Amino acid sequence: MAKTKTVYICQKCGFQTSKWMGRCSDCGEWNSFAEEAVGPKGASGKSKGKKSAPIPLSKVQAEDAGKRSSTGSDEFNRVLGGGIFPASVVLLAGEPGIGKSTLLLQMMLWLQQKGHNALYISGEESLQQIKNRADRLRAPQKDVLVLAETNVAEIEYQLETLKPDVVVVDSVQAIYNPDFSGAPGNVGQVRECAARLFQMAKERNFTLFLIGHVTKEGSVAGPKILEHLVDVVIYFEGNTQQHRIIRAIKNRFGAANELGVFEMHNDGLRELTNVSNLFLNPHQGPVVGSSIVCSYEGSRPLLVEVQTLVSKSNYGTPQRTVSGFDQRRLSLILAILEKYCQQDFGYHDVFVKVAGGLRLNDPGIDLGVATALYSSLQEQALDTDAIYVGEVGLGGEVRPVSFIEQRLKEAEKMGFRQAYLPPQNMPGGSDRKKFKIMLSPVTLVSELLLPVR
Ligand code: TYD
Ligand code: MG
Repeated sequence: MAKTKTVYICQKCGFQTSKWMGRCSDCGEWNSFAEEAVGPKGASGKSKGKKSAPIPLSKVQAEDAGKRSSTGSDEFNRVLGGGIFPASVVLLAGEPGIGKSTLLLQMMLWLQQKGHNALYISGEESLQQIKNRADRLRAPQKDVLVLAETNVAEIEYQLETLKPDVVVVDSVQAIYNPDFSGAPGNVGQVRECAARLFQMAKERNFTLFLIGHVTKEGSVAGPKILEHLVDVVIYFEGNTQQHRIIRAIKNRFGAANELGVFEMHNDGLRELTNVSNLFLNPHQGPVVGSSIVCSYEGSRPLLVEVQTLVSKSNYGTPQRTVSGFDQRRLSLILAILEKYCQQDFGYHDVFVKVAGGLRLNDPGIDLGVATALYSSLQEQALDTDAIYVGEVGLGGEVRPVSFIEQRLKEAEKMGFRQAYLPPQNMPGGSDRKKFKIMLSPVTLVSELLLPVR
C-alpha cells in the first residue's frame, strides 16, 4: 500500500514544508505548524481534451453589470461596487461577535423577499439560533431556506438539488471535507472547502458569500489565505460601541477601499448614510493634539479627527503607539519633524489615534498628523475651523494629493472655513471662485508650524 504523504502547514500563513519547524520561515509565527495528509485526489490529472477551448476575446460575452442585485442596503451595495455581482464570490471577514451573521442574514431575508432563491448554510449555529436572530431582525417574511451542515459533500449535494442563486456559508472555518485529514478550521480544510465551494459557485452560477473569522492568535486559519481566491474581500474594520465599519480591501468588480458604516441596534444593523459627522470632534472646542484631516476612502471624502498625545517618557526607549494609522509612517513623520522643524520627540512617548475605529491609509492625511503631533508637543491647540490635506515627503515638503476638489467641497459642506493644502493642488484662476473655504498653500511642513508657535 502506498504510504500516505504528509506535509506541515503553517496555520497562520499557509506556508508548506516537509519537515516540522518551530518557527515559520515565511511569516515568523512560532509553533504554528500542523501536520496534514496530502493524498491523490482520484482523478488522473490528464486532460480529456473537451472541457475548455480558447476563443477570441472579441467573442467573449461581457458580463452585464446591470444585472447586479441590491443587498437591501445602499452602504453594503456601495462596498460591493454597486450591488451583488452575479456569480461572484465574496469573503466577509471579521472578529467573532462583530455582526457578520447579522449583516448577511439581513441581506438574505431581503433577497428572498425580492424573489431570489436564497440559501443560508450555517456550520456554527443551530437552526433555532438562526430563527432567533431572524426574529430580532423583524423581517416581514422569513422564507429563506436555512441549512445546518458542515460536511462540504452534503452541502454540494444540497446546492445541486436546490439550485439557489445566492448562498451564504457561515463560516468557512466550520466546513470540512471528510476525505481530508485535519480538523475543520485548519489551513488545509479551509482552503480545500473554500476552493470547492468557489468552483461550484462559478460552475452553477450562484453568488456565494463566505464568512470567515479573523484569526485570534494561532487558533484557526485566517481568511488571509483565501483572499487571492475570492472576487471580493470585505473586512469588518472599526468597532466602536455602536458603529460597525465594513471595507472592501479587494474587489474584482468595483473600487477597492470602499467603506460602509452601520449602526448595531436591537433589531439588527442599520446603515448610516451621512457619516461625515461621525468621525469629528463632538466637543466642538479646540483640543490640544488633535487635527481634522480629509481622507479619501473608496469613492468618497471623509472628514476625520486625528488625535495625538505626546508625553514625557519615563523609560529609556520611548513608546510609539498607533491605532488606525501606520506605525512606519508615524516614524517617518516624527523624523521629518525632528530634522526639518527642530521638534524633539526623542524623550517623549507618542500616541496616534484615528477617531471612530477607522483605519486610514490615505497618505493625504500626513500633514494633519504632523500638525497634530506638533500641537501636542507644544501644547498649543490648532484652529478647529481648519482641515489639513497633503502628503509629507522625505524632504519635509508637502506633496499633492488626488481628488482635491471633492475633499475641499466636503470640508466646505461641513462648515470648515480654512484648508491647508499642497501648492500644486491650489485651484487656479476661475476655479478658485468655486470655493468659499479659505485656501492656504503649504510648501513645507515647517511653514505651517511657524504661525502656531
Ligand atoms: P453576530 O452577527 O452573531 O456576529 P458574528 O456573526 O460576526 O459573530 O452578531 C453578534 C452581536 O450582535 C451580538 O453581540 C448581539 C448583537 N446583535 C444586536 O445587538 N442586535 C441584533 O439585532 C442582532 C441580531 C445581534
Ligand atoms: Mg456568526
